[in-house]
Amino acid sequence: MTGDRIAIVGAASGMGAAIFARLRAGGAAVVGLDLADARWPDDAPVTRFAVDVADHGSVRAAIDAATANLGGLDVVINCAGTLGPVEPTLAAAPETIQRILAVNLGGAFAVTQAALAHLLPTGYGRIVHIASIAGKEGNPEMAAYSASKAGVIGMVKAVGKEYADSGVTINAIAPAAIDTPLLAGLSDEQRAERAAIIPMGRMGTVGEVAALVEYVVSREASFTTGFVYDLSGGRASY
Ligand SMILES: NC(=O)c1ccc[n+]([C@@H]2O[C@H](COP(=O)([O-])OP(=O)(O)OC[C@H]3O[C@@H](n4cnc5c(N)ncnc54)[C@H](O)[C@@H]3O)[C@@H](O)[C@H]2O)c1
Repeated sequence: MTGDRIAIVGAASGMGAAIFARLRAGGAAVVGLDLADARWPDDAPVTRFAVDVADHGSVRAAIDAATANLGGLDVVINCAGTLGPVEPTLAAAPETIQRILAVNLGGAFAVTQAALAHLLPTGYGRIVHIASIAGKEGNPEMAAYSASKAGVIGMVKAVGKEYADSGVTINAIAPAAIDTPLLAGLSDEQRAERAAIIPMGRMGTVGEVAALVEYVVSREASFTTGFVYDLSGGRASY
């Protein structure tokens, strides 16, 4: 980890902020990318770049700028995502569905392409996307979100095989509910429901996410690509 040059997309909040802090403490050179109006943690002296992952050009420009700032690129971690409303599928507006797909799935494609453009020529790299247990099992009243995360899982499996002999690995993490600002819009009842379906009986923490991601982007994690790591307190059944 020491000396690795890392760009974290969606670094201002939740999992991205925790991963940022852990990897920097481990000796990596880390820059953060997030929306121009993102609220960053007060105590984080983060080198920042504005990006909207729903805009491919914006992603390419931000990853290019991050790479120039770092003097190269070894690792890209994509934590940008949106939950969208929890509502019956019949009531979901087409614009809402499109926005969730554009950010979560379109964003994952944009980040992957921008990262590959820099990593493939070097013969080494690690790309990690935060998918979701929703993409494996489907969460009711979160059909677009679940579909977007299933799409991320499919993309990671395909791209992993495609570039398996390149030295660049691409993997996903599939967390169950993790206590972050993403869940701020849920009612207490909805939060309790999400914790109750986790066999460990609790939500995960951003620290647990960061610890797993640190391993997946390490140089030791060299024989795993196109894989989806479970982080679900026992909820995942495959
Ligand atoms: N919290 C959970 O329970 C949970 C569970 C499974 C998966 N996830 C996924 O984990 C990832 C991280 O979520 P989190 O819980 O840390 O949420 P969070 O809301 O704390 O952080 C998400 C970050 O993404 C950024 N972002 C949103 N839209 C963006 C865009 N268009 N362009 C660039 N950045 C954008 C936000 O500004 C924010 O900083 C997301 O992909 C989320 O879907 C979360």
